[in-house]
Amino acid sequence: MQAAVNGINLCYTDEGQGLSLVFVHGFPLRRAIWQRQIEAFRSSYRVLAPDLRGFGDSETQPGPATMGQFAADLHALLQQLATGPVVLIGHSMGGYVALAFARYFPRMLRGLVLVSTKAGQDTPEAAAGRRATAEKVKASGVQVVVEAMASKMLAPGTQDSPTAAQVREFMARLQPAGVINALLGMAERPDATALLAQIAVPTLVITGADDTLIPPTESEALAQAIPGAQLTVIPRAGHLVAFEQSDEFNRVLEEWLNRGGLG
Ligand code: MLT
Repeated sequence: MQAAVNGINLCYTDEGQGLSLVFVHGFPLRRAIWQRQIEAFRSSYRVLAPDLRGFGDSETQPGPATMGQFAADLHALLQQLATGPVVLIGHSMGGYVALAFARYFPRMLRGLVLVSTKAGQDTPEAAAGRRATAEKVKASGVQVVVEAMASKMLAPGTQDSPTAAQVREFMARLQPAGVINALLGMAERPDATALLAQIAVPTLVITGADDTLIPPTESEALAQAIPGAQLTVIPRAGHLVAFEQSDEFNRVLEEWLNRGGLG
């Protein structure tokens, strides 16, 4: 499905009925990465998953795609779809977007799930690295990003498996402009640490024990700073924990939804 929001066409999945679970993918992925969650939850919930601007089948516009812009797109989409307050589930860059959404649209949140993500901003070196990568993509295409990211997405034991091939498939047909704009947007994202103490909805923090891209210590810090947050570390999973250990991820999410009275 697609909707016109903020001057672009945004593509999204919308299945099931009930409380809305909104799944926001990371960089440089697409909404299909959540297929195993969509299948598991659509019988009990309304399950929404957008392709963020410039990813998957969604359009983009010139200029940095800031986390605030991604969050504003999401908010506009949810308004159009008349969802009411949602449980927002953000993975990695999708978690940066979820934190921006929590900053700007707190009344649209029923619950928050932060997956393999962090609140801090880029160091100056990391931001410079992203800008340099954006230049490389401009000069010679997205392959530099695919090669850099593919090997870091999964736990060491999963690297040569069919799962690794599927992950590469999720990065196929990337839009150079979408990748560049997101890199520039992430480089300029503000620190969200001060916001964490103000998050007033039930929050679940999930990470893979073997995540090397955003180490589990970042999730520990998030869970400590957000009042009442639950932290779950899933073994034998890397950065793409929801895809790599989907059964366990779904079980943890379902239990948390039920315990919080959200189920
Ligand atoms: C992601 O998985 O979304 C990215 O690794 C996040 C980042 O580069 O900071």
